[in-house]
Amino acid sequence: MSDPDARRHLRDAFGTFMTGVTVVTTIGHSGETLRKPLGFTANSFSSVSLEPPLLLVSIARSSSNYATFSTAKGFAINILAEDQREISNTFARPVADRFSTIDWQPGPHGSPVIDRVSAWFDCSVHQIVEAGDHALLIGRVEAFASNAAPGLGYYRGSYFTANSAAVAPGPEVVVTAVIEREGGVLLTDDGTGGLTLPTTKVGREGATAALERLLAALNLQASPGFIYAVFEDTAQGHQHIAFRCPCTGGSPAKGAFVELAPANLTDVTDPAMSVMLNRLAEESRQGNYGIYFGNQTSGRVAKVTGEDQ
Ligand SMILES: Cc1cc2nc3c(=O)[nH]c(=O)nc-3n(C[C@H](O)[C@H](O)[C@H](O)COP(=O)(O)O)c2cc1C
Repeated sequence: MSDPDARRHLRDAFGTFMTGVTVVTTIGHSGETLRKPLGFTANSFSSVSLEPPLLLVSIARSSSNYATFSTAKGFAINILAEDQREISNTFARPVADRFSTIDWQPGPHGSPVIDRVSAWFDCSVHQIVEAGDHALLIGRVEAFASNAAPGLGYYRGSYFTANSAAVAPGPEVVVTAVIEREGGVLLTDDGTGGLTLPTTKVGREGATAALERLLAALNLQASPGFIYAVFEDTAQGHQHIAFRCPCTGGSPAKGAFVELAPANLTDVTDPAMSVMLNRLAEESRQGNYGIYFGNQTSGRVAKVTGEDQ
């Protein structure tokens, strides 16, 4: 692995593994570091054994702290809480005194324990294993504590929290049915005095099943046809998929068919639906259809060839 590009790729590949973030601490025991607290940020922490209780962290041999940690009698692992990313940054940067901006206490075995961390383990050194350009510090847990505070996460070079991971599932998907019969389209009451197209949220069942459910509830002999538009409604946080659904019969459980003409579409309140229906009116007149991709205000129409319609 002498090629720097290959090394960078390997580091990126290692970075695809989600980890917690720790600060590894000890007290200097010789020379300039005598009795000074020292520490560095590390995400290479792993539990090793329950009996005896062992854990490990790997330290770069290039670290300015390597000489101290590789000869120390003990060290502590502090698992940072999700609001402690500044502490992580401080202990990863060349700061003269990393401990000057944090609150900490000596642990029962002597190594610095940082206040308000999610968990800490104060260890004696069990073994040091040299491994390539790092060394594994294997510690025996002499004392520890943990609390319910969620830990700080690290993934692909960025921090994340349980909250940010949970609130980023992407936009909600909704399907819209453009149900057409004899030149008309089914419009329903939107609850505010305006008109809308039948729409439903897509759950675990997927878009096609959601659309079939929507059509069945309307009591119409209609079937899912071509996709007519795919657009993001960034205001609502929705991803819409609109399907043209030819209808051959049935009396709608709600709403009514209106002739597809601009004058009949003025009460459609959702601007994106209004634009889509006016396009459908124009394209139906010309017999030449396209599929819209974009968001609620701008996008492009991909033309569908005659054979595809
Ligand atoms: C999220 C994160 C995880 C890190 N994990 C490790 C690690 O496991 N081992 C290590 O030696 N350095 C790790 N580092 C880098 C060290 O924190 C950093 O290089 C070190 O603190 C530099 O200062 P030093 O030379 O004083 O040790 C990590 C840095 C960050 C930001």
